[in-house]
Amino acid sequence: MGGTELPRLTVIGTGYLGATHAICMASLGYDVVGLDVDSKKIEQLQSGEVPFFEPGLPELLGKALASGRLRFTTSYAEAAEHGDVHFVCVGTPQQPGSDACDLRYIDDTIRSLAPHLTRRCLVAGKSTVPVGTAALLADLIHELAPAGEEVELAWNPEFLREGFAIDDTLRPDRLVFGVTSEWAREQLTAAFQPIIDLGTPVVVTDLATAELVKVAANSFLATKISYINAMAEVCEATGADVRDLAKALAYDDRIGGRFLQPGLGFGGGCLPKDIRAFAHRAEEIGVGQAVSFLREVDAINRRRRSRTIDLVREMLGGQLDGKKIACLGAAFKPNSDDIRDAPALDVARTMHGLGATVRVYDPAALDNARRAYPELRYGTSALDVARDADVVVLLTEWTEFREIQPSALEQVVRHTRIVDGRHALDAGVWRAAGWEYRALGCP
Ligand code: UDX
Repeated sequence: MGGTELPRLTVIGTGYLGATHAICMASLGYDVVGLDVDSKKIEQLQSGEVPFFEPGLPELLGKALASGRLRFTTSYAEAAEHGDVHFVCVGTPQQPGSDACDLRYIDDTIRSLAPHLTRRCLVAGKSTVPVGTAALLADLIHELAPAGEEVELAWNPEFLREGFAIDDTLRPDRLVFGVTSEWAREQLTAAFQPIIDLGTPVVVTDLATAELVKVAANSFLATKISYINAMAEVCEATGADVRDLAKALAYDDRIGGRFLQPGLGFGGGCLPKDIRAFAHRAEEIGVGQAVSFLREVDAINRRRRSRTIDLVREMLGGQLDGKKIACLGAAFKPNSDDIRDAPALDVARTMHGLGATVRVYDPAALDNARRAYPELRYGTSALDVARDADVVVLLTEWTEFREIQPSALEQVVRHTRIVDGRHALDAGVWRAAGWEYRALGCP
């Protein structure tokens, strides 16, 4: 790689993070090869199909493929041959039966890639990993790569949110470059030049700090959500209103209103597993006490789910058994089809287990939900699942649910009762229309 030439990039792991990264980098003018071991995913992407729901991404993929700057492969040899910078974007899920992070995919990636690395290049990890992982991976690369120490490892955490993935990738709040040499910093700078040119701040750190930035950020966000939900619990016991409380807190710039939305709490593929893995890792390295509050953050978050079911039960006079319940939402948040650790489906399944007839509708996540939980019933619209319902429960705050008119829903339900698990509706409007309206933390 010389002069002003752009580095050639590979992106290994084409899930949410990797596919978005590969497509966005190609859209910026880089020559990108995306690799995955899942040949079906590769075929889909190569034919212009994004295997998950993300607004704007299919269009951007189409353009990138047409430009000739993006292709996909399952061959590590091909990826190694192509890349000056290899971004590693594979999943790091929670280990079954443990809070620890499962590093098997990242380990497999390095073991598959490194033996093909015969020239100087940079491997840049993007996956969320326990602090200390990058240093171990660097040793592994040096041991397995024919180019040995010529191959360097960097850590470059990613902060993208589902539903905003393109924007978060092309216009991030900041870039974090965890590096062990000036050369590695230069490679990353070249790999992000158009984004840096927008004025994006770059924080250059060591490997451990870069790994920690990601888990620290997600822990902070999870803590903020659980904080306001803890206040909701106090509100419930005192007759205070958590919505007004949150509004008043948000006017303080030091606190701010983002991620201060009370309700059913957080889910998804990142926040829950990241705080658990962080607490677990901290215990391993002898600083468990420092982040033991994350266990409480997790517990508060789980209680929101059972408390939502309590509200439904209270509304139904103490019994779920034999009742018809309409669940609006399945995805862990709106504008996503992701159902990983989705609070909505957790609530729906528990109510089903308690004997209720539960029907679920979601604008994007129905196929995923159906595959994962065939025992639940599904419908084709909010009005469809609400037919003859004893209670309607809003669990994911999709815009189309926010816009439902009480008068339209009233036509189909058996009883005009609604639990607003996401504080998405105007309580005054629904009550004025004759509905019994309940929400966590509101009188
Ligand atoms: C998160 C981080 O935001 C992102 O930076 C990181 O890279 C990956 O993890 P994501 O999982 O896409 O992103 O979802 P996010 O938008 O953060 O929402 C997480 C959960 O918190 C959702 O279930 C959402 O409903 C919930 N949430 C969010 C609240 O309950 N209240 C809030 O105020 C905000």
